[in-house]
Amino acid sequence: MSRPEHTAPPEIFYNEDEASKYTNNSRIIAIQSEMTYRALELLAIPDDQVAFLLDIGCGSGLSGEVLDEEGHFWVGMDISESMLEVANGREVDGDLFLQDIGQGMSYRPGTFDGAISISVLQWLCNADKTVNNPRSRLKTFFSSLYSSLARGARAVFQFYPENPAQIEMIISSAMKAGFTGGLVVDFPNSTKAKKYYLCLFAGFKDNASEAPKLPKGLDEESGAQVAYASKRTREKRRGKDSRKELKDKNWVLHKKELNRVRGKETPNDSKYTARKRRVRF
Ligand SMILES: C[S@@+](CC[C@H](N)C(=O)[O-])C[C@H]1O[C@@H](n2cnc3c(N)ncnc32)[C@H](O)[C@@H]1O
Repeated sequence: MSRPEHTAPPEIFYNEDEASKYTNNSRIIAIQSEMTYRALELLAIPDDQVAFLLDIGCGSGLSGEVLDEEGHFWVGMDISESMLEVANGREVDGDLFLQDIGQGMSYRPGTFDGAISISVLQWLCNADKTVNNPRSRLKTFFSSLYSSLARGARAVFQFYPENPAQIEMIISSAMKAGFTGGLVVDFPNSTKAKKYYLCLFAGFKDNASEAPKLPKGLDEESGAQVAYASKRTREKRRGKDSRKELKDKNWVLHKKELNRVRGKETPNDSKYTARKRRVRF
């Protein structure tokens, strides 16, 4: 089967019809969600931290929904208007921007605690228009991403490289932009389950005594499915879903603040804000 990125530019490929098919396909939903959990695991955000994350190529919000579930705040960027319209219609919590990542991004330096990108990076390696030179687009993208991340933050990209030369081009562009880190390959011996994650570190945290180590890939022998998802399930069973708790309190306040900034009529905060309500039948 030919790769979608060979058939048309992303903003054309992900049209209204494709955006709807993509988002309603239960197999795709399951795969994107599992890869997002794995990306979050590699992002290594401390358990008690609610993070402000960037979802690069957020599409219709399948990856973003996992961030919602985990209690994080996020901003999503995508080049396809149709994918963003579907995300909007599904009322994901993230703020969405129509943006070609190959043209870079202009957030304030150090804005994000981390970034994820699920099934997107291979699109940047294609010269879908004569003006789109992959090397220079990757350079612009990684340099602007580096400056948008807080020092010591990570960016994790699950992607589908076409060949080793593409991997080399991506990694060398990221390193030239200042990142350290590298490639994590899960299930390297399985044709079906093999997955590539580019795990990048944007410098060191001030209090870090040594450089972060590249995490190990999962393999069949360790029996590790996506550890992150099963950890969540364990916590839920024990009733200790601490991030969800934090989301309940902070999420409402954050949403109200965003609405005020956007000029929407918003009730004042009070001791009743975000209180638990009894379910009414
Ligand atoms: C396979 S979808 C993945 C969407 C989402 N991350 C998910 O997990 O469902 C790939 C997405 O990458 C986006 N994309 C591709 N090239 C892009 C670019 N240059 N700038 C922004 N988004 C891009 C596409 O529009 C599409 O929504």
